[in-house]
Amino acid sequence: MTHATGCPVSHTDYTKESEIYGHYATLDAEREAARFHFNDTTERGFWMLTRYEDVLAGFQNHRNWTTAVRTALFPESRIPLLPQDLNGEEHQKFRRIINPFFAPAAVRRMEELAHTRCVELLEELAPKGHCNFVAEFAIRYPTDLFLVLMGLPVEDGDFFLPWTEEMFNCMLQGDLDGAEVPRQKILDYFTVAIEQRRKNPRDPAEDMVTRLVQAELDGELLSHDTILTTCMSIMLAGLDTTRSALGYIFTHLATHEDDRRILVEEPESTRDAVEEFIRLYPLVIQAGREVQESCEFEGIDMAAKDVIWLGIGSANRDPRKYDDPDTFVLGRPGINQHLAFGAGPHRCLGMHLARLELAVVLEEWHKLIPEYRIKDGAELVERGSQLTLKELELEWEV
Ligand code: HEM
Repeated sequence: MTHATGCPVSHTDYTKESEIYGHYATLDAEREAARFHFNDTTERGFWMLTRYEDVLAGFQNHRNWTTAVRTALFPESRIPLLPQDLNGEEHQKFRRIINPFFAPAAVRRMEELAHTRCVELLEELAPKGHCNFVAEFAIRYPTDLFLVLMGLPVEDGDFFLPWTEEMFNCMLQGDLDGAEVPRQKILDYFTVAIEQRRKNPRDPAEDMVTRLVQAELDGELLSHDTILTTCMSIMLAGLDTTRSALGYIFTHLATHEDDRRILVEEPESTRDAVEEFIRLYPLVIQAGREVQESCEFEGIDMAAKDVIWLGIGSANRDPRKYDDPDTFVLGRPGINQHLAFGAGPHRCLGMHLARLELAVVLEEWHKLIPEYRIKDGAELVERGSQLTLKELELEWEV
């Protein structure tokens, strides 16, 4: 079937869960079938860009294709996000306020603590000989580091974590009403933190909430709602993604003995391995955009308000860009050009932190638990929309 423009029509519903790697297989097939598709599974439909060069061009076309739509799958999301929702100069100014907390130097300052916290969690886990990796480790660790990053007490993770879990699950299944209850609890929690920093500010160069409370945009202090939304947005963007990346990485390592042995025997290769894992298992499989002024893109006529799918998941595995793209290759040429963190002005704010977190886990885990496997009979199911493994049962000898 073809669209009126001549573009093939895709009926693939990417919000559906599948067995592990099912989404990558479909993305690969759609990319090889055609450079562009029009997907008709949502009310507005969306233009799918499937190949590396087009997806990169799409990210760079940020003046006309904006984040007025953030995900092609749920274009009407009611939850405000900052800095994601801003574009152009407004976006740049806002990013300047928070960029310093995510710069490589700031992330390096967190490194020691990242190791300490990781070892603490692993020392609790290792003697058990098994775990549900997703629930017991992969979400716990980034949540703790998020709290540290914000200058909040790490112990708050105990009650903060279940709220974030519930909210992600509802949001990513399109249940916005269900997401409202945990969202409110998180907002109340941040409200208390913001009030505390107003009364007792800390060093704004090191404490992000203090920085947000004191920051000015065009000569005015940020409103309470803006600060709240920013805290929430960083949390939403940072926790589910890191948890999900860990799930895919540890599934890979539990099933690819040779790759695991490299990490155990040559820990200096960890950073390169992290980058290749991020390329190979992109969990944010698409970024959404909305066309502001009608335009033509590579032969397709697009109208204002049309929705676009920048296909990160298919671009990262495009054989036109990477040889043998579905295989883990350490030291792969062009690895730093992958699109898992996006590109252009909205490129992931937390990418250095994400890399650090993943590298620390790989290093510390393999020191304590070098051999492990997936429990016999465990079913590996991946959520749709933004991929994650719902469960991952790992076991090891103690
Ligand atoms: C493996 C982990 C991660 C992946 C794969 C990932 C992926 C992405 C992608 C693809 C985007 C761009 C979306 C777009 O262009 O529309 C993005 C943006 C963003 N990410 Fe990440 N991310 C990760 C971790 C993190 C972490 C740890 C944080 C913070 C703690 C974070 C915070 C953000 C923020 C705030 C944005 C919005 C930037 C903007 O709009 O200017 N991310 N991320």
